[in-house]
Amino acid sequence: MVMKQKILVTGANGQLGKELRQLAENYPGYEFVFLGREDLPIHHFEMLRHYFGLYHPAFLINCAAYTAVDRAESEKDIAFQVNGEAVGVMAAVCKQFATKLIHISTDYVFDGKASQPYKESDAVNPQSVYGTSKLEGERQALLYNPETLIIRTSWVYSEYGKNFVKTMLKLMAEKDIIQVVNDQFGSPTYAADLAAVILHIIGSYKWEPGIYHYSNEGVISWFDFATEIAKYTGSKCKVNPIPTSAYPTPAKRPGWSVLDHQKIMEVYEIAVRPWKESLHACLKRLK
Ligand SMILES: NC(=O)c1ccc[n+]([C@@H]2O[C@H](COP(=O)([O-])OP(=O)(O)OC[C@H]3O[C@@H](n4cnc5c(N)ncnc54)[C@H](OP(=O)(O)O)[C@@H]3O)[C@@H](O)[C@H]2O)c1
Repeated sequence: MVMKQKILVTGANGQLGKELRQLAENYPGYEFVFLGREDLPIHHFEMLRHYFGLYHPAFLINCAAYTAVDRAESEKDIAFQVNGEAVGVMAAVCKQFATKLIHISTDYVFDGKASQPYKESDAVNPQSVYGTSKLEGERQALLYNPETLIIRTSWVYSEYGKNFVKTMLKLMAEKDIIQVVNDQFGSPTYAADLAAVILHIIGSYKWEPGIYHYSNEGVISWFDFATEIAKYTGSKCKVNPIPTSAYPTPAKRPGWSVLDHQKIMEVYEIAVRPWKESLHACLKRLK
């Protein structure tokens, strides 16, 4: 009997992890092992090694992360432990077991002062504890295992967990008027599309390590995003634009969070879906 290659997914109960679960049934050639935080806290290094010894995975998709961007400003140690140190250990263990690691990072490694989409080779300069901790994860991953493949993404949403789309739907159902920031620009990413890209990479049998950028296609503000959600759902709630200065948050957000997709499109021959098409698909599933 041919042994199926195993794909270990950490942080399996987050947005991306749950989308991977949905898609896993389309990949019967692999055996998936989904581990949530309660099964495998990634900063618990002995448990990490235990699971590797148990499964000898061919691939590890690390969806686990400390993602509370504002809280990270006051919880620096835990943010760095999960997003930095644990990723380094994970990369080293992957190297030891010849496991291919796909790790997810963020647009927040940039300062948002550009006016062109960020390329993978552009200078990083995170403005928040979260962004700095994720950059540390990238650095450690490539240091301890140069074969790591890192995908930076932005503005992730899905029908699972907490995200902008679900927050907007809730507020629009409760209020007559909402105010949404109109001077931060980026590209949303439907977690289902990102999950499909990750599994496409694995299925391609082509492994070109390094950093890649991926989001849906298009450049919009959070206000544009909210306006389209209201339009598509037929909400009567009025969406008003406000500047970032009117909505202060503990962590500074980049004003320009647009990622250039050229590299991933060329290397892995993928098409990138327009943001509206993906948003509509998610809203349909949320109905
Ligand atoms: N969300 C975004 O807008 C966004 C933007 C750019 C990049 N990213 C990156 O994309 C990746 C996936 O994000 P996501 O939106 O799917 O995040 P998410 O929904 O917050 O999921 C992250 C998961 O990691 C788990 N986790 C936290 N600490 C852990 C630990 N020590 N050990 C094991 N699991 C732990 C969380 O568990 P609990 O639920 O129990 O806390 C959660 O289930 C992350 O690397 C994130 O940094 C996200």
